[in-house]
Amino acid sequence: MEFEFLQVLCMHECKHLILEACNLLNSEWPRSKSARLQSLFMSCDKFPTSLVLVLNDFQVVGHVKLSEITVGGPDVMIESVIIHKEHRGKGWGKMLMEDAEEYIRRRGKKMLYLSTRGQEGFYEKLGYEVCMPILYYGVALEPSPEPDTKFRVPTKCKYKLRGRNCRRKRRLPQTWYCKALWLPVE
Ligand SMILES: CC(C)(COP(=O)(O)OP(=O)(O)OC[C@H]1O[C@@H](n2cnc3c(N)ncnc32)[C@H](O)[C@@H]1OP(=O)(O)O)[C@@H](O)C(=O)NCCC(=O)NCCS
Repeated sequence: MEFEFLQVLCMHECKHLILEACNLLNSEWPRSKSARLQSLFMSCDKFPTSLVLVLNDFQVVGHVKLSEITVGGPDVMIESVIIHKEHRGKGWGKMLMEDAEEYIRRRGKKMLYLSTRGQEGFYEKLGYEVCMPILYYGVALEPSPEPDTKFRVPTKCKYKLRGRNCRRKRRLPQTWYCKALWLPVE
């Protein structure tokens, strides 16, 4: 049996693996390489943080991105959770998520949010509970005392296809989940 040595590392602490991480993410969600790399380069000790699951010191086999929902606030958004196709079903996704939760807990955060289309069972096994959708802009916002009334969630999304306006293809419904964290006892 081949020896498998797994580590969860912060992307900013193993920048030599950034292209590997980029390729893993693009294998599931194709996007421009430069946009993807830019997002991975933003990883830092506070937030946003990209955690990568590294096999035998050189292969990136998993990734998860953690972002604050408001700057310095108690809530964290979990995104881009992925395990390399060849290694799914081995418990590595669960391990990566548990390490991510520990990382977040140690930074004093209280609540995790995520949304999924199709992986509901995975998150439910990890103790996530269905919740109302939250407003998340892809970057942490400065906390505001006033509710943001300008933002509107688009109800219809149109895009141009072969010169005509077409509705986007019907997709699986998106389910939102949350999980409260127990804070470490000092
Ligand atoms: C979702 C994903 C990260 C799961 O990783 P994984 O390593 O295959 O999952 P694990 O082997 O750690 O599974 C942990 C548990 O969840 C269960 N599970 C995993 N995926 C599941 C699913 N889609 N539905 C129901 N249960 C699931 C497993 O059976 C296992 O249960 P057990 O603890 O009782 O044995 C992986 O399938 C993946 O990368 N998918 C493509 C990208 C994606 O869709 N990401 C989610 C974006 S929201």
